[in-house]
Amino acid sequence: MDVIIRKARLKDVSGITRLWQQLIGCHQNVCGYDKPLFAHKKNALSIYRKYITKCIRSRNSLVLVAESDNALVGFVEAAIGKLPDIYLHDRELRILGIYVDENFRRKGISRKFFSEVAKWGKKKKVYSLGLMCSVHNENAHRSYSKIGFEEHHWKMSKVI
Ligand SMILES: CC(C)(COP(=O)(O)OP(=O)(O)OC[C@H]1O[C@@H](n2cnc3c(N)ncnc32)[C@H](O)[C@@H]1OP(=O)(O)O)[C@@H](O)C(=O)NCCC(=O)NCCS
Repeated sequence: MDVIIRKARLKDVSGITRLWQQLIGCHQNVCGYDKPLFAHKKNALSIYRKYITKCIRSRNSLVLVAESDNALVGFVEAAIGKLPDIYLHDRELRILGIYVDENFRRKGISRKFFSEVAKWGKKKKVYSLGLMCSVHNENAHRSYSKIGFEEHHWKMSKVI
C-alpha cells in the first residue's frame, strides 16, 4: 500500500474535513471532549471548512495530507505562532491538528508528517515544534514521545 505525503490543495478540503470529523469522534471517545467546555457550535463543520481553506492558502500555515489509492488517509495542520518577545526563540510551529486513518496507523505516516513539518519550519526560521494533547490520549503521548516531543506544561481550565 503506497502512501504519498504531499502539500494539501484546495481540492482536498472535503477529504480533510471528513478526516477532521473522525478526529472529533476520537476527541469525544478518547479525550473527554464530551464536556460542555468543548461543546461545538451547530455550524462547526462549515466553520472548519472555511478555516482549513484559509490555512491551505496561508503562507504562515502548512497543511499536509497522506494519500493512498487516490483517497486521503491522514492530514496534519501546523501554523507559526509567536511567543512573548522576551524569549530568545520566540517563534514556534504549532501542530494544530493531526490525524491518521485507523487502518493506516503504526506505518510511519505521522513520523513522515513531523519530518516534513520540521523541514518547512526550519526554512521559516522557526526554532521548535509545539503541540497540545489531551491527558487522556495515551496512544498519542506514546507516539509523540517516540518522535522526540517532551512534556513541559499542563494546561488547566476552570468553568466560571
Ligand atoms: C497519534 C497518531 C497521529 C500517530 O500516527 P501514526 O501514523 O500511527 O504514527 P507512526 O506510525 O508514524 O508512529 C510514530 C511513532 O510512534 C509510535 N506509535 C504510534 N502509535 C503508537 C501507540 N498507539 N502506542 C505506542 N507507540 C505508538 C510508533 O511506533 C512510532 O515510533 P517508532 O518509529 O520509534 O517505532 C495516530 O495514532 C492518530 O491519528 N490517532 C488518532 C487521532 C489523535 O489522537 N490525534 C492526536 C490528537 S492530539
